[in-house]
Amino acid sequence: MDIVQAIAEVRGQVARWRGAGERVGLVPTMGNLHDGHLSLVDGIRPHVDRVLVSIFVNPLQFGEGEDFETYPRTLESDCAQLGSRAVDSVFAPETAEVYPDGMPLQTQVSVPALADTLCGLYRPGHFTGVATVVAKLFSLTQPDVAIFGKKDYQQLAIIRRMARDLNFPVEILGHDTVREADGLAKSSRNGYLSPAERATAPLLFQTLRSVAARLREGGRDFRTLESHAHDALRAAGFRPDYVSIRRRVDLALPDEDERELVVLAAAWLGDTRLIDNIRVNS
Ligand code: PAJ
Repeated sequence: MDIVQAIAEVRGQVARWRGAGERVGLVPTMGNLHDGHLSLVDGIRPHVDRVLVSIFVNPLQFGEGEDFETYPRTLESDCAQLGSRAVDSVFAPETAEVYPDGMPLQTQVSVPALADTLCGLYRPGHFTGVATVVAKLFSLTQPDVAIFGKKDYQQLAIIRRMARDLNFPVEILGHDTVREADGLAKSSRNGYLSPAERATAPLLFQTLRSVAARLREGGRDFRTLESHAHDALRAAGFRPDYVSIRRRVDLALPDEDERELVVLAAAWLGDTRLIDNIRVNS
């Protein structure tokens, strides 16, 4: 497995692969890899001949006062984990390689509507930072396929939209959320939780499951279901940003007769912001 830092080098490598007629798969990450990330590698492998994993903690997607400085950077152990998987190359550029003129001068990609709701309301500029870096990664690695986790459901929807709108010839795959035994979605940020917070954290997914159960039973008063879930999270010690029932295809507010729903939530436990979602066919 190669570890590459320079854009010129990754471009050369991909050009050689493509020249040999090989299909290239990209797995974008910010590192501190866990089983969720590794499942993306396994998920893309059958679709491609070469797997490229990018590891880059993207400053552009972190807001003022967020955890950019403290975000765990564990390149060595990340590469050790990837080395035991079927990964051909890791692209781990420095910030100056990606943003040579600094972030204020960087051309940005904004995705209207989809990025202005849910997490977008609480993390202004976040999804523009995500869409921009993913567009740059697509442009400089030219993948045939790229894979993203459904745990970040809104992010996945935004990337699909961005790829379509900017005509990137890349197929976007979505991969199911990998969870701990108690249901908590695996996340690099789970490491921030104190033991007491860690014990409470699975209630986020449990709350989403109970909303999903009500919806399956035919519950259609979406606002009441959301506000009960909000109250349950508060009572358990969370500070919820939102619990929201949305139309799965475009995250719009659903009509009563909508069958394909997704319930999404973001909530703070102490200083840690957790997100999760569950899809419901009602
Ligand atoms: P990061 O949080 O490192 O996540 C990288 C990829 O792993 C994303 O597609 C995310 O949805 C997926 N992932 C995270 N936890 C998962 C889990 N428990 N199960 C399945 N997949 C999971 O998301 C980002 O980085 C960045 O925003 C990025 C897309 C790399 C752009 O900077």
